[in-house]
Order: sequence, then structure tokens, then C-alpha cells
Amino acid sequence: MKKIRKAVIPVAGLGTRFLPATKSMPKEMLPVVDRPVVQYAVDEAFEAGIEHIVFVTGRNKAVIEDYFDLHPELIGTLEQTGKKTQLEALESMLPVAGATSFIRQQSPQGLGHAVWCAREVIGNEPFALLLPDMVSFGGRGCLAEITDLYAQTGGNVIAVERCEPSETNKYGIVGRGADIGGGFEVTAMVEKPAPANAPSNFYINGRYILQPEIFQLLGNQQRGAGGEIQLTDAMVRLSKDQPFFAQPFKGRMFDCGSKEGFIQANIAFALARDDMKGPVFEMLQEFVQSHERQEEAA
Ligand code: UTP
Repeated sequence: MKKIRKAVIPVAGLGTRFLPATKSMPKEMLPVVDRPVVQYAVDEAFEAGIEHIVFVTGRNKAVIEDYFDLHPELIGTLEQTGKKTQLEALESMLPVAGATSFIRQQSPQGLGHAVWCAREVIGNEPFALLLPDMVSFGGRGCLAEITDLYAQTGGNVIAVERCEPSETNKYGIVGRGADIGGGFEVTAMVEKPAPANAPSNFYINGRYILQPEIFQLLGNQQRGAGGEIQLTDAMVRLSKDQPFFAQPFKGRMFDCGSKEGFIQANIAFALARDDMKGPVFEMLQEFVQSHERQEEAA
């Protein structure tokens, strides 16, 4: 079984759900507490043993490439002013030289198309895919969990979480087959099914391990929903020849591409930090109490 060495992180989407902020600021650079959203995906990938990250970028996304570069002036200033802790933190976040590639997706034709753009750099080996606007919270990191299942099963592995049964029409949903390891075999993959037609309430949460045969399928994939090249459509075709497994995530994924998920993530990460939990908890209590008073008075 081939080791998962490379990961694709697509960052070329338009982020229309987060307008107007995303008019000039990539959603992947919006901060959760004090780190951009994309940093969480990069940390998760390296912690799961990934050696090389392929970013698929687009117009107006150059700031992401700059973010993962060395900033000599900033380092000089931190050194001169004795800000050792910040300096160490910055250095520890910087990927090792040569461990990142940046590929251009000239126009955002969908997630499937973005993944296909990475085909030459990935080559003929299985790879991880992380949607960076989905921020993994709690546990060991979602990619590490699916990498463990992959070590037992091989094939293709996707991370899943349960949604409200009434909300299956918002997600890619998988069918649940026989249990294997901590996960299960996938019997079906359906994009946004109505609750009555959904094979389960396990939704695909943005972490994948895929075999390289997906590239050929993406290359001749018809445009699907929204006129875009859909990854799920290609995965459904791949599942006819290869097994797919699902690992329910033990933590929780926040959809930071949505305003609500972004606010939830900021609160959850702030409450998890020793230096912030006290004041943030008090602030939340105050907000809730004042909101309740207003509701009562209305
Ligand atoms: P989303 O499904 O969240 O799409 O993409 P989006 O277009 O960025 O956002 P909305 O729905 O308009 O608000 C998931 C990930 O895939 C990337 C995005 O940058 C995001 O990180 N993506 C999406 C691409 O790289 N290219 C695409 O064509 C589409």
C-alpha cells in the first residue's frame, strides 16, 4: 500500500457565501482567532504525516502564497524588539523549503476541476485532499483519523459527520455498509439528496484520501450542478471500480465558508485557549443575558 505523501488544498474558489468580505480578501485568509483558516488545514496535513502540499490558487489569491513565505523585515523587527515567542511561533508555522507547490486554476470551474489542476504534481500516487474552509476542531485532526483507516483498508477514504436528518439536502451524503476498523464501507454517494431519498445522514465533511485514477475521470467529467466539474460525480464513477470507506470524525468540522460556521469556529477555538477562555466565556454570558432581557421586554 502506498503511503500518503502529498495533499491538495484548493483555494481558488470565489467564496460568494462570504461576500462582501471576499471581494478582495480570500476566504481562506479570514482569521479564526489569530490564524488564517488555511493555516489550520496546513497544520492538520503536516501533523498527519503529509510531506508536500499542492495549493490550487487563482486570481486575487497571491496573498496566500505570500503568507507561507519568509518575511525578513518582520523577523528582523521581532528580533530587534526581543519578541521571542512571536518569532518562534512564526518560524514553526513556516513550511520547510520545497514542501509546497502553487498551481493556478485560471477560472473557478468547480472543486473537481481544481483537484484535476493538481494532477501533474501529484502524479501516480494516492493523495489527501483538504477543503481549507472546513476547519477541524478537537481530536487528533481529521486527516490523521482517515489516514489510520486508509492504513487498514487502502482504497479511497472520506471523512464523514452526521447532520440533522432533515438537512441532508445541504450536503454530499454517503450510504453506510459493513463496519470496518472504526469506519464503514460506503455503499452510495449522493449530492444533496432530499431527506426522503437520503441513504443516511452521514455527510462528507471535506477530508479525503483519493486514488490517482480520479484524475482521469475528472479530465473527462461532464459539467454537473451549477455548470461546475463536481468532485462527487467523479467519485461516484470511481466507486464503480474501487472501494470507498468512510471514517466518522471524532471531533467537529466548522464550515468557515459560511458566516455562521465561521462565528462558531471563532468561539470554539477561543474557548479552547487558556489565554482567552475566561474573558470570552464572560462576554458570551453577558451577550446571552442581555439578549434574553431584550426578548423578554419585547
Ligand atoms: P466551496 O464549495 O466552498 O466554493 O469550495 P467557493 O466557490 O469557494 O465558495 P462559495 O460556495 O461561493 O461561498 C471549497 C474549496 O474549494 C475551493 C475553494 O477555494 C474552497 O477552499 N475551490 C472551489 C477551488 O479551488 N476552485 C473552484 O473552482 C471551487
